Amino acid sequence: MANPRLRSLLWWRKWAKKDWAIAAVGFTIFISALNFLFDSRTNDLDISTAEDLVDLTLLQNAKDRGAFCLDGSSPGYHFQEGFGSGSRNWLLHIEGGGWCNTIESCLHRKTTPLGSSKYMQRQIPFAGLMSRNPSQNPDFFNWNKVYIRYCDGASFAGHTESELKNVTNLYFSGQLIWESVMDELLSIGLSNANQALLSGCSAGGLATLIHCDNFRDLMPKDATVKCLADAGFFLDEKDILGNYTMRSFYHDVVHLQGVSKSLPKDCTSRMDSSKCLFPQEIIKGIRTPLFLVNPAYDYWQIQHILVPDGSDAHGHWQKCRMNLQYCNPSQIEKLQDFRSSLLNALSDFQQNKEGGMFINSCFIHCQTWMANTWHSPTSPKINNKTIAEAVGDWYFNRRVVNEVDCPYPCNPTCYNMEFA
Ligand SMILES: *[C@@H]1O[C@H](CO)[C@@H](O)[C@H](O)[C@H]1NC(C)=O
Ligand SMILES: *[C@@H]1O[C@H](CO)[C@@H](O)[C@H](O)[C@H]1NC(C)=O
Ligand SMILES: *[C@@H]1O[C@H](CO)[C@@H](O)[C@H](O)[C@H]1NC(C)=O
Repeated sequence: MANPRLRSLLWWRKWAKKDWAIAAVGFTIFISALNFLFDSRTNDLDISTAEDLVDLTLLQNAKDRGAFCLDGSSPGYHFQEGFGSGSRNWLLHIEGGGWCNTIESCLHRKTTPLGSSKYMQRQIPFAGLMSRNPSQNPDFFNWNKVYIRYCDGASFAGHTESELKNVTNLYFSGQLIWESVMDELLSIGLSNANQALLSGCSAGGLATLIHCDNFRDLMPKDATVKCLADAGFFLDEKDILGNYTMRSFYHDVVHLQGVSKSLPKDCTSRMDSSKCLFPQEIIKGIRTPLFLVNPAYDYWQIQHILVPDGSDAHGHWQKCRMNLQYCNPSQIEKLQDFRSSLLNALSDFQQNKEGGMFINSCFIHCQTWMANTWHSPTSPKINNKTIAEAVGDWYFNRRVVNEVDCPYPCNPTCYNMEFA
């Protein structure tokens, strides 16, 4: 069985439909294989490099503040203390797992770890950028680390006024969860930080963008504070039929959970607030140094934004969206256009001197919390640098990091997903 942490990443299995279930299984098997390779390699070298299991802590102040998971249970996080030169440095990582956009999908989520702490794993392994093994995590291994669990369904940006407690017992308190987690972490040492990095993957990458400046403002003035969004750059693009499927999905999330208030005011005053949930709008206002890790052929985006369920009635994309080796030339062209849209959406950000990016041409989603994609002898690289090296170089100002890969299939170091 795959490591338990991965189960929470298989959230899109919940999107029902048979092909998602198959994809989820494919992913599990793929990751098991990766873990097996990695574990067998390191176990030979040094038993102490085995992944650490870290306990879940439920928030103490959640009830008083009204910060609840969708089902009314207490939110939580996993904390591992830093040591040595890292003891006053903090790395936070926000869990991902999509969003719920309807009462029905939020009710379903209530019965999973993404909507209730009742179902959360009590211990999870810390790997990749969360690892305390310097060979796996050269720059951040000895920092204090916090993995923040995601259980609100709106990237920590829902507001309680929209709650549907009367009818459905659904709590939409993502923003309050964010604030309560910060309060608690500040009280256990974060308020004393020298260096801090807020990170997150997927919907957690989006949460990182939404809360990045607020995080900066909570830290001591003289601390170095930066943000890292992994696979969180969701594009406001049309699907293959020409419909804005993702935009209408975000519209539903924003309106159901009252997300507008957590979005940048200078955006929501100019346009429909659901468009302001897209990273290309959010990053325009971010003042804190920001790094973006994103594959140019993010499989989540290909499977939900470019070729969403129901857009491919004749099944022409059925194989290609699961494994790029099966794409025909005209499909590859569409994928190259999708990559161009990403680079286009990032063109202003590329001028940002404090920013950095690592846009590799791989068919994958999150890449920071797995050792194999973060930093290992076989990790994906651009210009001979792993993601860990690129992020470290940027964080510690060792060089300007603006890595954009050549188009698929030019990079032989990629891990490309092969869904069954
Ligand atoms: C929920 O109940 C409260 C008080 O019981 C009431 O004021 C409010 O209007 C109700 N909301 C909805 C959406 O029915
Ligand atoms: C998507 O676009 C097609 C063709 O333009 C249209 O017939 C269909 O109704 C649209 N579907 C949705 C869900 O908007
Ligand atoms: C790539 O990086 C490795 C490790 O940093 C180094 O040993 C190697 O010489 C580099 N290769 C090239 C072609 O620069």
